[in-house]
Order: sequence, then structure tokens, then C-alpha cells
Amino acid sequence: MASGWFITLEGGEGAGKSTLIRELSARLAATGREVTTTREPGGIPIAEAIREIILHVDHTSMDPWTEALLYAAARRQHLAEKVVPALERGAAVICDRFVDSSLAYQGHARGLGIESVWNINRFATESRMPDLTLFLDLDPEIGLARLESGGRSKVDRLDLESLEFHRKVREGYRIVAGMFPERFVTLDASASPEELAEEAWRYLSKRLPGL
Ligand code: TMP
Repeated sequence: MASGWFITLEGGEGAGKSTLIRELSARLAATGREVTTTREPGGIPIAEAIREIILHVDHTSMDPWTEALLYAAARRQHLAEKVVPALERGAAVICDRFVDSSLAYQGHARGLGIESVWNINRFATESRMPDLTLFLDLDPEIGLARLESGGRSKVDRLDLESLEFHRKVREGYRIVAGMFPERFVTLDASASPEELAEEAWRYLSKRLPGL
């Protein structure tokens, strides 16, 4: 049985997940524990290849169910090849996005239905869920403005979505957070990176046994 900690970060575009992951990973590593940081879709070559297909700007005709299944396929491979072995070694795995992204983006914002998307993901993950999920809650207008001012490196297909879509993503996350209160923590991502890291660390210390 896995003895590590599986921690996921969720939120809309520009919420500050990458910065927080760097900070939490440094703090966790300082406790002497092995830390694996990774992302979805991606984290390993097969899943990164699937990511290219999903996010390619030319693929605007992609059927929403195809999209949901590709995310689930990338997730399955990433889980089996990278996440589970690391947890079995006792590592802390910090993953940028997981199942909840599919529930919020495909289930709610795309309108496939959270329950239906949950069903394909239950199959893909064999119901393995994170120990703790940090949801970085932010008004999408602020998040998108942050990306613009930071000079984003690459525009992907999801970046072409409307502000309305990103508002629905946020609404979706709030619904999903209510479905899984035992593992979800909602953080105010309009705070400074330092405040956000402090708040997140407080929850990690409280929720992860032995930290
Ligand atoms: P990233 O920009 O955070 O790396 O994520 C890539 C995009 O993929 C982002 O717009 C969110 C989206 N996404 C989904 O729509 N469903 C999913 O299951 C995942 C993991 C990501």
C-alpha cells in the first residue's frame, strides 16, 4: 500500500499554481521527504504527446467527449507510470491538475455533466484520489490578466475560450469542492504568493499525518 502523499493543485488559468508548487515542493523537501512534482495532462512522454494533441490550436473541431477521454487516457498512463510508483516509494507527489480539472472543465464548463465525466475518470483511475486538493480560487478576469501581463509563452486551444467559459470553470470547481469536502481546501488566490504559500502550508501541516 502506498505510504506517500498525493497532493493536487487545481484552479483556472493564471491562479498561481506553478509558483505555489515550487514553494511547497521546497518546503516538503526540506523535511527530508522525497518530492515528485508533475503535471497533467503530461508529466511523462506518452501523456505529453496526448497533451500536444488535446491542446493543439488546429484541433478546434475536437468532439468534447474525445477531449474528455484523451484527458482520462493521459491521466491513466501518468498515474500508472509515475504517480503510483512514487507514492509507493513514500514520496510526496505534487501534481498540477488531476481529475477535478476534468470535472470542472469538461463536466461543468463544456456541459458534459460532472457525473458522466466522473464515471469515465473513475474507470481511468480505479478511483485513486488525492489525499489533499488545494483549489486556488480566483476571478478569471484577474487570472487571464495575470497571464497577459506575464507575457505567456504559448497560446493553446483552451486559451482561445471565452471569459464566460472560464467563469463556468470557476463555478464548476466550486461545485466539485462541495462534492469532496474531505479532501478539498479552497484558497483565496488573489492573495500574494507569500500569503498563499503560508496558507497552503498551514493546511498541509494540518491534513498530512506525520508532516
Ligand atoms: P495547464 O495550462 O494548466 O497546463 O493546463 C492545460 C489546459 O488543459 C488548461 O486550460 C486546463 C485544461 N484541462 C482540462 O480541460 N481538463 C483536464 O482534465 C486537465 C488536466 C486540464
